[in-house]
Order: sequence, then C-alpha cells, then structure tokens
Amino acid sequence: MADAVILDNVQLSSGIFRMTVRSESGGLPGQFYMLRAWSTSPLLSRPISIFDIEGDQLHFLYQTAGEGTRLLSQLRAGDRIGLEGPFGNGFPAASGKIALAGGGIGIAPLYYALKHLPQAEVYLGFSREPYLVAEFERLSSRVTVDIGGYITDQIDLTAYDQVWVCGPEPMMKAMQRKNEAAGAAGKVFVSLENRMACGIGACLVCSTKTSGGRRKACADGPVFPVEEVVFGG
Ligand SMILES: Cc1cc2nc3c(=O)[nH]c(=O)nc-3n(C[C@H](O)[C@H](O)[C@H](O)COP(=O)(O)OP(=O)(O)OC[C@H]3O[C@@H](n4cnc5c(N)ncnc54)[C@H](O)[C@@H]3O)c2cc1C
Ligand code: FES
Repeated sequence: MADAVILDNVQLSSGIFRMTVRSESGGLPGQFYMLRAWSTSPLLSRPISIFDIEGDQLHFLYQTAGEGTRLLSQLRAGDRIGLEGPFGNGFPAASGKIALAGGGIGIAPLYYALKHLPQAEVYLGFSREPYLVAEFERLSSRVTVDIGGYITDQIDLTAYDQVWVCGPEPMMKAMQRKNEAAGAAGKVFVSLENRMACGIGACLVCSTKTSGGRRKACADGPVFPVEEVVFGG
C-alpha cells in the first residue's frame, strides 16, 4: 500500500470532513480509493470516492460513520495515510444531457464528475444541514437543492439522456422505480456503496445481486445501470 502525506483534513459540517493528500495516482470520476490510517484495527481499509483532483492533490469528502472514518477524521496535516487505488469502473462515458443527483454524502463522487461535465444539471438532497452547495454552484448554473424532502421527486427523467446517482439506498431505489415507470434502460446509473474488503475483485465481500447474476461492486462497479441492480440482494 502506498502512503501519502495529508495536506489538510477539515471539518465542513457536523460529521463531514474534506481530506486532501498529496498523490499523483489520479483517477476518473466515480472511482474510489481504499484508505487506511491504522495498522491492525479495524481490519479492513475503507473505500472513499474521489471527490476532486487538482494536480498532485487528491481530495476526499467523507462522513464519520464508525471507527474507520472516526480515525480518518482525527488525522492532521503532516500525518501519513495508506492509499490504494484508484479502483472501480467510474461513471460511464457521458452522452447527451446529463443530470447528477446526490443524496447526503453521496454528493462526494459528483463534484469531480461535474468538473468534467460543466453543462450537467445538479440535484443535491440533504436531510439536514447542507454542505458544499456553493462549490457545486460555482461549476454549474443549474443546481437544485432539497433539504428534508426527497430530491428524487424533482428529477424529470424525460429531460435527460443520462442521470448519475449516488446516495442512500432508499434514494437509489426511488430512482429505480422512476426508471421502471419511464421504461428507460441505460439512462440512470447508480454508484453503490457496498461494504468492501480488498477493493480489487479478490474477496467477494462486495458481491451484489444484479439481473445478470452476482457482480463485484468494487471491480465490476461501483457504478451500475440502475435497472440491473437487485437492491437488498
Ligand atoms: C465505492 C465506495 C465509495 C465510497 N465513497 C465514500 C465517500 O466518498 N465518502 C464517505 O463518507 N463514504 C463513502 N463510502 C462509504 C464508506 O466506505 C463507509 O462509510 C465506511 O467504510 C464506514 O467505515 P467505518 O469504519 O467508519 O464504519 P463501520 O464501523 O464500518 O460502520 C459504521 C456503520 O456504517 C455502516 N456502514 C459501513 N459501511 C457501509 C457502507 N459501505 N454502506 C452503508 N453502510 C455502511 C455499518 O453497517 C455501521 O452501521 C463509500 C463506499 C464505497 C463502497
Ligand atoms: S471488495 Fe473484495 S471483491 Fe470487492
């Protein structure tokens, strides 16, 4: 595992942090890294999406969920972190008019995607206090924000050729229902956040049921056409 120097690790909101590390490993929108800031416990590294890349600076946006992300949040500038990646397929080749839809910390992979697609329209949903909205608005003139409701209600699938989604499972299921109702295929793509262990397709921890059989979220995904995903499977 390569290690990298942390340049910054700032709290943006309650439980929400942005970490910047020096790394030239790069990556594509929708890809992720396996991060590790401990030796033996927790056992596994933690998958975190690429939030942004600026030259040799790699940015991650993360929410504290348990022990691993809590340890990440305690790191300071000058500390070192273990880094493996970039992994995963990333978002698909962009085609036509695109919407990016994020729920909560699911906005993390969409910022770097938006940098590549400045014409994209953006939907950001938060259950409580929003964060980074101004940063998205600097890149796109079409940012819709919902706080406390269902951002998916605001997305008209017929207005887009592709919709890229990342958020909690209920949000992705809602997009799947909308997609089914519209009879669409190959339009809505979701980035899954399954638990992972190896990150490279070797352990099956991230195995996901799809219409085409079991797939590895780390290596075959994390981005899948929504109609292929069997949620809860
Ligand atoms: C490809 C990918 C990209 C991701 N990108 C980001 C990101 O950019 N920012 C970010 O904050 N998080 C991201 N995640 C989720 C992040 O990896 C988990 O929140 C983290 O691993 C939790 O580790 P922990 O040790 O803090 O919590 P744990 O102690 O492992 O778990 C704490 C709680 O969170 C639940 N949990 C743990 N992992 C997940 C998960 N993957 N999905 C749903 N619930 C979970 C557990 O069941 C438990 O209730 C991503 C996940 C994947 C697979
Ligand atoms: S995390 Fe090991 S196969 Fe996906």
